[in-house]
Amino acid sequence: MAKIRDNWGSRATFILAAAGSAIGLGNIWKFPYMVGNNGGFAFLLMYLIIVFVVGFSVLLAEFAIGRAGQGNAVQAFRTLGKKYKIIGYLCVIVALFMASFYAPVAGWALKYMIWSISGLFTDANASIGYEKIFGAYMGMKDVSTGNTIQGLSSFLGSSPAFAVIILLISLVIIQIGIKNGIGKVNTVLMPLLFGIIIILVIRGLTLKGGHAGIVYYLTPHFKEGNILVNLLKVSTDALTHAFFSLSIGYGIMLTYASYMSKEDSIVRSATWVVVLDTLIAFLAGLMIFPAVFAYHLEPTQGPGLVFSTMPTLFKQMAGGTIFAFLFFLALTFAAITSLVSILEVVITFAEEEWKLSRKVATWAIGIVVIILAVLAGLGNGPLSNIQIVGKGIFDFYDYIAEALGIPFVGTCISLFAGWIMFDRLEKELTNNGQLSYGWMIPLKWTLRIISPAVCIYAFITGSGLWSLVSS
Ligand code: PHE
Repeated sequence: MAKIRDNWGSRATFILAAAGSAIGLGNIWKFPYMVGNNGGFAFLLMYLIIVFVVGFSVLLAEFAIGRAGQGNAVQAFRTLGKKYKIIGYLCVIVALFMASFYAPVAGWALKYMIWSISGLFTDANASIGYEKIFGAYMGMKDVSTGNTIQGLSSFLGSSPAFAVIILLISLVIIQIGIKNGIGKVNTVLMPLLFGIIIILVIRGLTLKGGHAGIVYYLTPHFKEGNILVNLLKVSTDALTHAFFSLSIGYGIMLTYASYMSKEDSIVRSATWVVVLDTLIAFLAGLMIFPAVFAYHLEPTQGPGLVFSTMPTLFKQMAGGTIFAFLFFLALTFAAITSLVSILEVVITFAEEEWKLSRKVATWAIGIVVIILAVLAGLGNGPLSNIQIVGKGIFDFYDYIAEALGIPFVGTCISLFAGWIMFDRLEKELTNNGQLSYGWMIPLKWTLRIISPAVCIYAFITGSGLWSLVSS
């Protein structure tokens, strides 16, 4: 007898789990500094347009493919058309690398949470390490020295242990299952995360001199120079960040939607996910910019924004240790719920394609990811002499997952949904005609033209092809 597939149990649980995947370091750390670097309100506005047009369309496509295909990424594409299952395999590979790369980063959030309890963030030097880690995460500049950060160097070298701890926590959650494991954890952690952010926003807004930050955040400020060039840069950054932030292009939303009830409205659920993800990013800005201005810090400083600002703030604040703890706790929650979602792509695949029990699939894949993640950590320490295509192990995973994988898979999913399978997916979106929407034609053309164009552009610039061509 065929095994009965697990399910989310309720629409709210599905929405919270999908939002839990989307809401991550991208919202709390990356979004505010991107706003700061790209002219405040101008970026915010552009981001909103892109998220609600392109991001929303691709999210709808992933949800519809997953629910129509009723299975792991490979099975979902196979159900819709046998020869397209290759896209499913690509999703699984990208997710495997992304998990091995994200785990060490999530491990750092955990480590800093533990450190914060010990009051370490009242020590001026402690914040610098964190800044470097997250700068390295996106290959950005180290704000304290101005140099580009190469890997996690000595920091991660000593810490695969935290990556392993956070992986073990995530694997236990996954092994328990969709409804009772991932579903329950998200129903608890997401409201908690929201609560902590609200507390930190109130703290930020009540700081003396903070209102200048609100003005900066919510009114347009273009850097001097050509407005058109600025606009182009702002929109490119907004585009890449929209895919990253919504967790689209990895097969995650597709896998989660395969466990969704046939009666639910995909459009309504997707709207919730996009709104919640955007809301948390917006609130992160509200929590940070007033503090930046209250303490006379520089809003355009880049990746270090959160990690030099927040500790500075905590140091000067009454009860700083507790706020530091809450902040890193929120970061850890956000990271765990995202890590779980990437692992789930690979584990559901192993469970269904290789006919393994959930338990065996979880730990078989778990061991592989633990090894890959430890290698990434050691690659920044004792194994730093190992180079793959000129990159250390950790940077190599990032390159495969983010620079190549997401734009490529994003292109495939959009073309597949827009040109090949639109009628079938329209049925899925309208629950076989029970629901009706007036914007199916614009959706079709966004998937056919706009989204692939955006992804191909991101692929060319992110993969380094552009510099090869232009040099
Ligand atoms: N969406 C997450 C964020 O905003 C990033 C992420 C993408 C995490 C894909 C897991 C998988 O931080």
